[in-house]
Formats: sequence, structure tokens, C-alpha cells
Amino acid sequence: MKYGHFDDQRREYVITNPRTPWPWINYLGNEDFFSLVSNTGGGYSFYKDAKFRRITRYRYNNVPMDSGGKYFYINDGESVWSPGWKPCKTELDSYECRHGMNYTTIKGVKNGVEAEVLYFVPLKTWAEVQKLTLRNTTGEVKKLKIFSFVEWCLWNAASDMENFQRNFSTGEVEIEDSVIYHKTEYKERRNHYAYYSVNEPISGFDTDRETFFGLYNGFDEPQTVLEGAPRNSVAHGWSPVASHYVEVELQPGETKELVYVLGYVENEEDDKWESKNIINKTKAKATIAKFDSAEKVDAALAELRAYWDKLLNVFTLDSGDEKLDRMVNIWNQYQCMITFCFSRSASFFESGIGRGMGFRDSNQDLVGFVHQIPERARERIIDIASTQFSDGGCYHQYQPLTKKGNNEIGQGFNDDPMWLIFGTISYIKESGDFSILDEPVPFDNEAGTEVSLFHHLTVSFNHIVNNLGPHGLPLSGRADWNDCLNLNCFSNDPNESFQTTENKTEGSKAESLMIAGLFVVYGRDYVELCQKTGNSIEAERAQHHIDSMVESVITDGWDGDWFIRAYDYYGRKVGSKENEESKIFIESNGWCTMAGIGLQEGLVAKALNSVKERLDSEHGIVLNNPPFTKYYIEYGEISTYPPGYKENAGVFCHNNPWIMIGETVQGRGDRAWEYFRKICPSYLEEISDLHRTEPYVYSQMIAGKDAFLPGEAKNSWLTGTASWNYYAITQYILGIRPDYNGLMINPCIPSEWTGFKITRQFRGASYEIEVKNPNGVMKGVASLKIDGKIIEGNIIPLMPEGGTYSVEAVMV
Ligand code: GLC
Ligand code: GLC
Repeated sequence: MKYGHFDDQRREYVITNPRTPWPWINYLGNEDFFSLVSNTGGGYSFYKDAKFRRITRYRYNNVPMDSGGKYFYINDGESVWSPGWKPCKTELDSYECRHGMNYTTIKGVKNGVEAEVLYFVPLKTWAEVQKLTLRNTTGEVKKLKIFSFVEWCLWNAASDMENFQRNFSTGEVEIEDSVIYHKTEYKERRNHYAYYSVNEPISGFDTDRETFFGLYNGFDEPQTVLEGAPRNSVAHGWSPVASHYVEVELQPGETKELVYVLGYVENEEDDKWESKNIINKTKAKATIAKFDSAEKVDAALAELRAYWDKLLNVFTLDSGDEKLDRMVNIWNQYQCMITFCFSRSASFFESGIGRGMGFRDSNQDLVGFVHQIPERARERIIDIASTQFSDGGCYHQYQPLTKKGNNEIGQGFNDDPMWLIFGTISYIKESGDFSILDEPVPFDNEAGTEVSLFHHLTVSFNHIVNNLGPHGLPLSGRADWNDCLNLNCFSNDPNESFQTTENKTEGSKAESLMIAGLFVVYGRDYVELCQKTGNSIEAERAQHHIDSMVESVITDGWDGDWFIRAYDYYGRKVGSKENEESKIFIESNGWCTMAGIGLQEGLVAKALNSVKERLDSEHGIVLNNPPFTKYYIEYGEISTYPPGYKENAGVFCHNNPWIMIGETVQGRGDRAWEYFRKICPSYLEEISDLHRTEPYVYSQMIAGKDAFLPGEAKNSWLTGTASWNYYAITQYILGIRPDYNGLMINPCIPSEWTGFKITRQFRGASYEIEVKNPNGVMKGVASLKIDGKIIEGNIIPLMPEGGTYSVEAVMV
């Protein structure tokens, strides 16, 4: 069953039934000020950091789900309703939500009145703008009482939810004209406040939550709205909210537009006050003035659209398959940008409290959007590298507000360092900017410790080399990519986190085949980079380590039909025929086949065939099989999940592309494509009631074949799945791959495809690429021409900037 449809022309997903199987959300903002908005108007806002600068409240996992948001209530004399159906849940005559690129519109129609709310964060603006359009479609005059509503968060989203002995006494607001200001803690240690305005004189307001709702009423029945009369309450402590009350009279056929601005301001220490206890409102007023008319708002939305046109024009595909085109051209790229902005911090599955920016996550996310805004990728790489330690080790995460490593979330995940090489090299290949390698970058953000970024890559590489186990394979540390395979943790205490508890690495023999493959793949990239930058001695040294890693994998990492996953603390095999449960895992087989280890000897084909046979399922490739059915203290969190969920045999979508890419190494485009399609959301739209999460974005996990309900997805939006699938489809299946000296054309497609067309902007030039597959092969380019001239090899050389060039590639 479907709950809406794609509108590719407008780059929107249109939801026509508000009762989606889970809140289907969108993200607003792409730089400093962010909001999440659901298809019924639920969600919240924050500035930069979802934990430390939360602007409005949201209640996770509430009853009902998705409670709290940016709500509008309309009292039309006959009924009380909301344009987004929720929170009133008054049956609407029609409903439509359009999620677009960083904006959402929600329209409800009731008793002949249309109410449409446009939500977006204009470019370079520390505010969310909401335009409420009211239209009277009847022949009679309509008198409407309009109440807006947001609930302030007392800034720190964590203490806001627990420190009630303090919180109930601190809340403070100011009201001036049509603007409600939230200034809790402003007089002491904070230099910021928030505000909510409307561009119309108000006839009342409320700022005290209890007064607005009544102590015993929920979001669906605020007392003031039901009575059609605000109380003009001024919050002192308890829970401050902001609600404007506006009376609107609409003649038959008349339309009226109201603009609301929900913003954030920071003031200098000596410029905080206008007079005693009265905050300086200059900056808030300036922002409000920028959006005080519908025309100004429309112009700002047009700018936002133009911004997205530009970003999405860098890579466009015409494959003839609309489901594929809409993912590659619109939604997958959009999701990559969102994961870049948020890492794993704020979604309807992530409270924004527990996590900052992940070291490994952010490096991987980069690859999904570096072609759109290389400048921001550059900045991100420097930020990430600045949190690294001098021995190459890393904090697992850092906070976006301070950019400092966050120790509460641990360190010692031994795959982390290698991802910096991946991120940096992807950036250079896209931009051609080698100067980033000379950037001075500190260790652990300490001034005076700066070394070149290139040196950070060297210590990353060395961190693996310096931490090898008894088989010459990389020690796993706290965990490798799989946060839940905790081989040194041995936790018996349900109150400790597997990610931060004591890590018995001393004397451990736990080695990771996933890191081994990762090391070979990006180690080779490192060698090539050394050669390109004239460091031939370093290249030689690094190559030597890679060669011995390949040897160790073949000698001690091969199980006969697939690559084992790891050695445990005691040096026993994990993910081997010898094991009773979880005999085979996806990660090591993905990375070792991507690395092409044993390609000639047939190991790659064998490993991939084992994956097909044992891990593949209707809904995607599961992480391990058979699943763990009991707790193994020596494996940690992975064995705590019930079979089929998350890292215990779920379809963890992030790692499926590793197998897709492995299949392209083997030249099997049919298989790569089959795996791609299985988890690609646009192909799952018809089974939305089973899949549950948004059909326009990837989810982290789909319940695996051993789960109670295989096919049910969770954790949508913020997942490495976005960038990895984008990377796999564009660079390995379609095969358009940025390289230092040009664009490589190396497709590996299903044999039934006859070809496809791509427009790719690259280093200032535009390439119109047509790939033809006259003989129905899966891989191999026989001839390549640019503007009719034949080129040797499969790399289109860099052409003069500003030009448009036509490229024709004919497969074997
Ligand atoms: C989550 C984490 C990521 C990790 C993965 C597997 O997606 O954000 O860092 O690699 O889970 O455990
Ligand atoms: C939990 C999750 C896992 C995630 C990790 C990040 O263990 O199950 O998916 O990677 O937290 O800290």
C-alpha cells in the first residue's frame, strides 16, 4: 500500500494520507539552523548542536508517536482543526504534505477553508520561516481564530528532560509587539535567546504551557483554542511556550498570508541588554524584517530552490528507469547532504542527545556530497582530523558546537583512522585540490601541535601497522566498523555501555578481517597519493605493509569458502565454519572482495557466492548467519539483539553496497544491481505498510530473514547507507568515477541494460556521457570518445573549464 507518490518534476514526495505507518519526516536548514518536520507538523529546531542548543521541545517515543511540533490550530466557530491533521486529528476534507528539498508544505482543507503551511529555513539564516496561507473557497464570510504553537526547550536537551527541580523555576520570556522571546538563562551564562514572531498585529498570546492547554489537556485540545480565547499568560518558570493569537476574516474567495519566524540570536557580552532585564532585540528584529511579507518569503524560497538546482545539476542520470533516476538525481543526493549535516545526531530514531559527529561516519558521509560542495567537505576534513591523537587513534565522536572530541562516547575503535584517508582522497579526486594536504592540523585540538594533514594520513596508516595481532592482522580495539562486535569488552553489567566500558585490549588477540580489507583498499589509495606527491620512499614502505596484509588475509583469514570475520580475544575464529552460530559475516567478505584479495585464485567469486547463498534474502543481505540466539560475553552487544535485528542478522543497509562493489570487482553487474534494487527505497514504495519508513530515503536497518517481521525498516535518514549506496551506484555500477587526472568510465551493469546517459560537472567542465551496451555485457569499455575523438584507456582527461563535452563509451 502507498501513502502518496513522487513528484519528480518538483523534487517532492507527496503524502496524501496523514496516517503514514510511521512519521514521515523532512529536514530544514543545511548549515547552522536546523529543523525536523514530520508530515503532520511534528518536530523541533536547534542551532548547530541538537544537544546543547535545542530551541524547541520534542518528546521521543511518546504516546502517540510524534508529539510536539510547530502546530497551528484553527477555530472556525464550527470546529477546531489543524492543517496537518495532527494534533487535533479532526477529520479533514483533504490533506496533502509535500516534502521537498529542505522545505515542506502541509495543506489541510476543512469547511471550505484551505490552510497551507510552508516550512523552511532560508539560506544563511538562523531561523525557520513559516508561511500560513488561508483561503476561503466558500461563498460566505469566514471568521477564523488562528493559534500558533511551539514549546521552548531550556537549551540543553538532556537536562531539559530530567532536571525538573531546576527547570520548573528558570523559564523566562518577554513579549513585545507580535514577538515572543524566550530568554531562559540569558541573564547569566548564555548569550543567546530565541524568538517567535508573526507579521501581523496579534489579538492575544500565551507563553505559559499550563494556561494554554489546561493541566489535564493534551496537544489535541488546548483549552484556549477550544474556548477561542487566549489568556495572555506570561510564563514564570514551569514550561514556557509561544502561541500567537490572530483573528482573520476572509471574504468569499479571499486569501490571506501570515508569516511566522522562529529564530535564534547570539549577542556579544557587552551588548546583551537594551535596558535593565530587557534583552537587546536588534538582531531578531533585523531577521524578522527580512521576512515580513509573503513576497519576501517567496523570494527566499526561490533562492533555496535555485541552490538545490545547482547542487543537483552536478550529477544527473537518464537511465530510462524512473525509480532509479529519482533516487540518483534527487533523493539519494539529498539524503547524503542531510547525513553530512547531522551525522547520526538528530532524527526520529536519534534523540540528538547521545551522539555528536562520528569520526568514521562523517568521513564516509563526505563521499556522498563532495561533488556538490567540495569547500564544505574540505572544512569538515580539517575539523575531523583536528580531533585525532598523535598516534593516529581517534575520539569516536566530536561535538559540532565546540568541534572537540567527546570522550563520553569512547575511543579505541581501530577502523576509525583509515576512514580519514578515504575522506581526504575522495575530496582530492573530486576537487583536484592537493593543497589540503599541506594544511596545518592539530592533534586533539591543541594549539601548537599542528602538523600537515598529510602527516595525519600517515599516522592513520601507521595506527594499523602499529596495532597488529598474532596473525599479522589488525587488532580490532573496542570495535571495528561494527560498533556491536565488542571482542574485548566482556560486559556483565546491564548498566554499562558496550561502547564505553572497560576495554581489555591488553593481551588481546582480537583481530579484524574487516579492518584488514579496509586497510588494503585505502592503503593502496595512500600509496598512490604518496606517489603523486613525490613521496616514493613512503609509498614503497606502505606498499610493503599492504603486501604483507594481503598475505596474512590469505593465510589466516580464509575459511575455505569465505573470509572469516575476526579472531576473538583468545585468538579463536569468529565467522567461520567452526562456529556454531554466525558462521559467516558480511563485513569481512565485503571489504576483502572490494580489495580483490585472491581475485585470481577465485577467492573473491567464492566468497561472494557464499554471501549469496547464506546471507542474501528477499529484503537484502543480512549481516551474519545463522544469527546469535544467546549472549556471548566475548562478542558483546551484537549478541544482545534478538535474531534479525540491527547488527545481529538485520539487513544493515550500510554494508550491502560493499557486496555490490565486491560484485563489480568480479564483474557481475547483474548481481550488483539485484542487491542495489532490493534495498533501494523507491522500489519499496508499494510495500510501505511493511517497510514503514519513508519511501524516499534509506533506513539503517531492515529486519532480516530471521526476524519476527522481515522487511520492516527502522532508523531512517541518518545512516551511512545514503553515501555508500550513492557511491556504489554512481561510481561502481554506473561507473563514473572521479580520478586525479580525469573522470574514469568503468560501468558494471546488468547485461539487459542497453545503456544510459549522465551529465557530470567535474572540475569546472560539463561532460555529457552516453554509455552504450550493444552486446549486452556487464563490464568493460571497448571504446571511449570525447567530441568524436578516440581516447586510450577509460579515463576522460580534464578538459578546459567552462566547456561542455560529449563523451561516448561503448561497452565490449
Ligand atoms: C551505526 C554507527 C556506525 C557503525 C554502524 C555499525 O550506523 O553510526 O558508526 O559503523 O552503526 O555498527
Ligand atoms: C548502538 C547501536 C549501533 C550503533 C551504536 C553507536 O550500539 O546498536 O547500531 O552503531 O549504538 O554508538
